[in-house]
Amino acid sequence: MNLDLKIDVSRAKSAAVGPDHGFTSGELHALEPRIQEAHTRLRQERADKVYGFWDLYRDDAAFQAVEQAAARFLDRGYDNLVILGIGGSALGTTALATALLPPFYNLRSRRGRKNHPRIFVMDNIDPVTFKAMMRLCSPEKTLYNVISKSGGTAETMSQLMLIIEQIEKKVGAGALAEHLVVTSNPRGDGAPPSHLHPVADAYQLTEFTVPLNVGGRFSVFSPVGMFPAAMLGMDLDGFREGCAAMDARCAQPDLETNPAYLRAAVQYLMDTAKGKSISVMMPYADGLRDVADWYRQLWAESLGKRYSLDGAEVFAGQTPVKALGATDQHSQIQLYREGPNDKIINVLEVKRFDATLRIPDTLGSINAIDYLRGSSMNKLMAAELRGTMDALKLSQRPVSRIVLPRINAHTAAQLLYLLEAETAMAGRLYNVNTFDQPGVEEGKQLARKLMGGAG
Ligand code: PA5
Repeated sequence: MNLDLKIDVSRAKSAAVGPDHGFTSGELHALEPRIQEAHTRLRQERADKVYGFWDLYRDDAAFQAVEQAAARFLDRGYDNLVILGIGGSALGTTALATALLPPFYNLRSRRGRKNHPRIFVMDNIDPVTFKAMMRLCSPEKTLYNVISKSGGTAETMSQLMLIIEQIEKKVGAGALAEHLVVTSNPRGDGAPPSHLHPVADAYQLTEFTVPLNVGGRFSVFSPVGMFPAAMLGMDLDGFREGCAAMDARCAQPDLETNPAYLRAAVQYLMDTAKGKSISVMMPYADGLRDVADWYRQLWAESLGKRYSLDGAEVFAGQTPVKALGATDQHSQIQLYREGPNDKIINVLEVKRFDATLRIPDTLGSINAIDYLRGSSMNKLMAAELRGTMDALKLSQRPVSRIVLPRINAHTAAQLLYLLEAETAMAGRLYNVNTFDQPGVEEGKQLARKLMGGAG
């Protein structure tokens, strides 16, 4: 089966939704010189290792290290894997878990899971949720992975402090190495010191590193996402193959053949020339709902910038919004069709679901639902998607599609890699620094100060 993702921007063209809301071929091709210049720069930066996310999937040593450690920990038979982290340190794992683990995974019997633990991604500091997790996951049966690239994030450090105390009380300080794994930035080489390093030293913990040239939201294919993935029995080779396949497509200089460049150019044109300041991501598959959440951070933090690379005040960025088909047809589509025409809707479509569910021949007395009887949920989902896209077109609302032949490690990796490459290109088109987040850092410092810390 051909697993290549298909990109289709035809429903965002002026021919589909009119020239006020759709792009013309002239408008797209006018971007060609900027795309070429950006392509050269991005390739050079990659060669110079300025930004490392492009090549994470090629890092044999990192993959070997997570696989070996996971095999060791899996042998010990934990019931739970708890991730302590926030933002880019958590969203990738959540996206992969929702996409690739069976629905209701944590509720399923462990017998069918070959020792793979339940997964809890703790990406907040709500005391009610955290306390509930601490009650539910007994430390004797739990492996915790604390993930913080900077190693100083207050939310994550507070979680860690609670967990260390709990492990020490219930299992003993001597057992910490069997229950806690650290993922943070590397030691030395000019890396800012991480508070997780002394913790790892004090308790002799297994430690993974996130390369210095990889930002949190671009780190899913580093140990940040790959150690939890290995613990959950995901297909790491499939991820690597999916990344490689999409990398080859995204290496093309040509705007029309490079899916990342095409999508970036269309979204950029929509925002800057057609007034579409909102970018909705709407998967038509429950498995992809958290990919929309992951994308929301990627697009927002990377492109939402006050200053351009030249120092001009630009207040750039498109607001990402997540939605879910068909569910949100009954919540959002009224607005998307009849409210302000300020959105491009990115639809994620899955050609073949892993299950087929025939709608049985029941309720025979209700003629109005004859059309459902003997059909399938699969067919209904496809019809809902097609119907919604056609209705959006009637209202002159642009849609950009990404079609996955099915959901597996290969296609999920293609999708995430594509969206990362697209974001890198979009950042160049907006002429902003895609890879920093000064607005987040300032908030972190102010919160620390309010808590009586160093600010
Ligand atoms: O993308 C980013 O860099 C941020 O969202 C970070 O991932 C987030 O702020 C958490 O930071 P850290 O991993 O340093 O704890």
